[in-house]
Amino acid sequence: MEKLKIAVIGVSRLGTVHAENIALRIPNAELVALCDIKYENALKAGERLGVKNVYDSYEKMLEETDTEAVLIATPPAVHRECILAACAAKKHIFCEKPIGVTDEDLDLIDEAVVKNEGKVLQVGFVRRFDRSYAEAKARVDRGDIGKVIKVRSISRDPSSQINDFIKLGPTLGGMFYDMSVHDLDLVRWFAGSEVESLYAIGGIYEFEEFANFNDIDNCSILMKFKNGVMAEVEGSKNASCGYDVWMEIVGTKGTLLINSATTTSVTQKDQYGIRTECSPWFFERFEDAYKREVEVFVDTVLSGGESKMSAYDARKVVKMATMATKSYEQGTVVFND
Ligand SMILES: NC(=O)c1ccc[n+]([C@@H]2O[C@H](COP(=O)([O-])OP(=O)(O)OC[C@H]3O[C@@H](n4cnc5c(N)ncnc54)[C@H](O)[C@@H]3O)[C@@H](O)[C@H]2O)c1
Repeated sequence: MEKLKIAVIGVSRLGTVHAENIALRIPNAELVALCDIKYENALKAGERLGVKNVYDSYEKMLEETDTEAVLIATPPAVHRECILAACAAKKHIFCEKPIGVTDEDLDLIDEAVVKNEGKVLQVGFVRRFDRSYAEAKARVDRGDIGKVIKVRSISRDPSSQINDFIKLGPTLGGMFYDMSVHDLDLVRWFAGSEVESLYAIGGIYEFEEFANFNDIDNCSILMKFKNGVMAEVEGSKNASCGYDVWMEIVGTKGTLLINSATTTSVTQKDQYGIRTECSPWFFERFEDAYKREVEVFVDTVLSGGESKMSAYDARKVVKMATMATKSYEQGTVVFND
């Protein structure tokens, strides 16, 4: 069986998930190297997954390792340098979201991607590869609910993760670039159009610590797309029930609801009421989709196909996050140029 050799850069929360999937669950992929500036992260994962090539510098890894592809799971501010290095080394690239943060990042990434012609770049917008979101999109495309009127995408992170939010908050890019990008990508995907105008509000409602890194713990974003579709995005860090992520698509002939996921299909009925347990965190909710998105990347490279989540789309989503930031800071509606 032909296998795609992949090296992973950034081996902590999500990099470990991807490394494990490549090593253990994706038969036509081979994990050939791991790199993390915190060398012990790469070493620990390497020992567990039987990977001997471990590095604390991606430059050295790219120089010394025989790999065809790299998977980048570093904090967003480091994506640009990793993508530029991987493009210069002529690798296929899977990069976690968001592809970059600043306009300069996006321009330099575009330039490098163009020069790396013939190689696939896929960005990790995992929800597109989740069975329920993918099924809803297929139904919309088939016309099952008529013409789309409105799309709502809700992401409420569990308040139980407050320690991680505070620890990782300063490096993950903030509410709009880190969290709402998933929803912004989805509403653009389901609307099938580019945003025309956007208005964002938000603030700190519970966790004062967010002020230390200039972030907020809740937001709402209202949008109109160029084709007339309306959209709403909500981001929150206070879900006490768990990872409460869901979506609604309203059409002229019907409505689709992608429900918040539960850990099991068990419902308990007793003196406290009727209860099911909410999926605790993103690892569990999107476990299959994290594998699926990398499977799709590997299949795309091996079959010579087009990226299923390209740098072009990823750039449009970052642009929406930038508009949301601007709108929130200025307190005004922002129009797309
Ligand atoms: N799709 C999703 O559901 C989802 C969920 C969580 C995180 N993410 C994304 O995944 C990426 C990583 O997030 P995370 O939560 O795993 O972050 P993290 O901070 O847990 O891990 C990042 C790792 O990258 C390493 N690193 C930093 N700079 C490096 C460099 N120059 N070279 C090599 N390694 C370097 C760090 O030492 C750390 O181990 C981010 O882009 C984030 O937005 C996506």
